[in-house]
Parts: sequence; structure tokens; C-alpha cells
Amino acid sequence: MKLIIINGPNLNLLGKREPEVYGSDSFEDFFKQLQEKFSDIHLEYYQSNIEGELIDKLHEVGFDYDGVVLNAAAYTHTSVGIGDAVKAIETPVVEIHISNVHSREDFRHKSYIAANAKGVIFGFGLKGYELAIQSFL
Ligand code: DQA
Repeated sequence: MKLIIINGPNLNLLGKREPEVYGSDSFEDFFKQLQEKFSDIHLEYYQSNIEGELIDKLHEVGFDYDGVVLNAAAYTHTSVGIGDAVKAIETPVVEIHISNVHSREDFRHKSYIAANAKGVIFGFGLKGYELAIQSFL
């Protein structure tokens, strides 16, 4: 089982960025815990602040890996390109958001990814990544 977590813009600042919304753990520390918890599967992590790099990564893994856990962050609400990439690849994608995007500003209610995702998880903090991984097992 080969899974990858792909995080989009500003998620490299997790732990420092708006901790009241996104929590105070850095993703790197959290990812180490995830790798320990799911030690029997191949679990990778990739983060970029650049839309095209996220698309390139989806193309790279999208015909080979068993699953993608994708938090495209702000690009979720704006990027036809990332939405098209999710549609183009064969690997199933679970869309995830740390915060409850539907309890926030209206512009966060729109997703260009959800229609082509296997499922969507939001509002459970970092725990959502664990739930997304479990959905592939
Ligand atoms: C987010 C929600 C997005 O609206 C926001 O732009 C983010 C993070 C989340 O994980 O809650 O950067 O995807």
C-alpha cells in the first residue's frame, strides 16, 4: 500500500499559522507520528506553495500510488487546474481540510476538487489525515 499526503500553500507554516484555527503542531512532527502509527504501509509527504508543482506531483503519483490525501488549502477554492488533475489521474484522492471550511467564509465553501474526490473530510483538525489514510485501508 503506497499512499502520499500532498499539502498545498501555507501549510508549511502549520504550528505557527493561526494556531486557533489550525492547531499548534508542525506537520513534520505530526507526520512522524503518522508514519509510526501506519508503519506497515509506505507513506510519503509532499508540500508545495506552487500550484503547478502540486499538479506535477499529482501526475507523478497518480497512475502508480494507491491513494492520495490532498489538502490543496486555498487552491481548493480557486484552482480549475488542480481539479482537472484530480479528474485526470487514476489514483483515488481524498480531499481533506483541517478546519471546518463550511463554518468559515463563503469563498471556502466552494471546492474544485470534491466532485472528483473519493471523499472529503473536514473539521477534525490533523486527525482528519488519519481518517483519510484509514479510508484507504
Ligand atoms: C484549509 C482550509 C482552506 O480554506 C485554507 O485556505 C487553508 C487550509 C484547511 O486545512 O482547513 O489554507 O485547507
